Amino acid sequence: MTNSTLINENHIVLITGGNSGIGRALVEFYSEKKSIVYSLDLHHHDQDEGIDSQVRKITCDVTDEDAMSAVINEISAQVPYISTLLVNAGIVPNWSDTANLDITLFEKVLRINVLGAVITLKLAAPLMKRPGGSIIFTGSLNSWKGDPNIASYVASKHAIFGVVKSAALDLGRDGIRVNAVAPGPIATQALTDRVAKRCADDLTAIDQTFEKLRSVTALQRIATVGEVVSAIDFLASENSSGITGQLINVDCGVL
Ligand SMILES: NC(=O)c1ccc[n+]([C@@H]2O[C@H](COP(=O)([O-])OP(=O)(O)OC[C@H]3O[C@@H](n4cnc5c(N)ncnc54)[C@H](O)[C@@H]3O)[C@@H](O)[C@H]2O)c1
Repeated sequence: MTNSTLINENHIVLITGGNSGIGRALVEFYSEKKSIVYSLDLHHHDQDEGIDSQVRKITCDVTDEDAMSAVINEISAQVPYISTLLVNAGIVPNWSDTANLDITLFEKVLRINVLGAVITLKLAAPLMKRPGGSIIFTGSLNSWKGDPNIASYVASKHAIFGVVKSAALDLGRDGIRVNAVAPGPIATQALTDRVAKRCADDLTAIDQTFEKLRSVTALQRIATVGEVVSAIDFLASENSSGITGQLINVDCGVL
């Protein structure tokens, strides 16, 4: 991965959903750069060696405002500011067509993907006012485009772009930039498991699904976790100092 960001131990980053997938890759990336890394998640793997031993792990549900407030108070007692806030925790529901929507599940997706993200933003942004910083949400290509059978997720990720546009205006005067990345399908364990479930473990169907995902991109492949991390790191860095309120696609050119 490239070394695009000029950061050091004065760089303090809080990552939600840091236990797996994209969040986990971000934790590793910033740990390797010797940033102070707070990884927040519902649960954490047990590894306690190497990079893992340096990460400050916090177990918390992003939808619990009181618990999140206590976490942010604890962080503010340990460090003077947060430089980079990566609002990444999220869930993807099982597929359902409109007639069979489970309203309880719909509400849960909005609660975690939208309200959890907003609670994180509300509570952590004050810790960024001095010296300013960068907030990056993990949106999705579903922040700008629909897909069948997944209305709650599409609604939640569209909402995230709305929050980004509004928060960028609110926080800009404090020197805080707010952006989102919009990954296309990324072969994290979570996505691979979902595809396998939808294909009822039919290996041919799994291959066909990934082939279809590749075939609808300009580059004829799906983007990697590393490419998402690079885009986020760009938005975290001074290289993007003039960019705020934006959604940056990382999808190999979904057509
Ligand atoms: N993988 C993809 O194809 C893809 C594509 C576009 C966007 N995204 C987005 O990227 C983000 C990460 O996805 P991923 O594929 O790495 O998934 P993942 O399931 O591997 O990671 C999500 C993490 O969020 C945590 N989490 C979920 N609910 C939480 C809660 N209430 N409080 C705290 N932590 C919670 C989970 O425990 C998990 O560790 C999500 O916002 C997802 O919508 C993923």
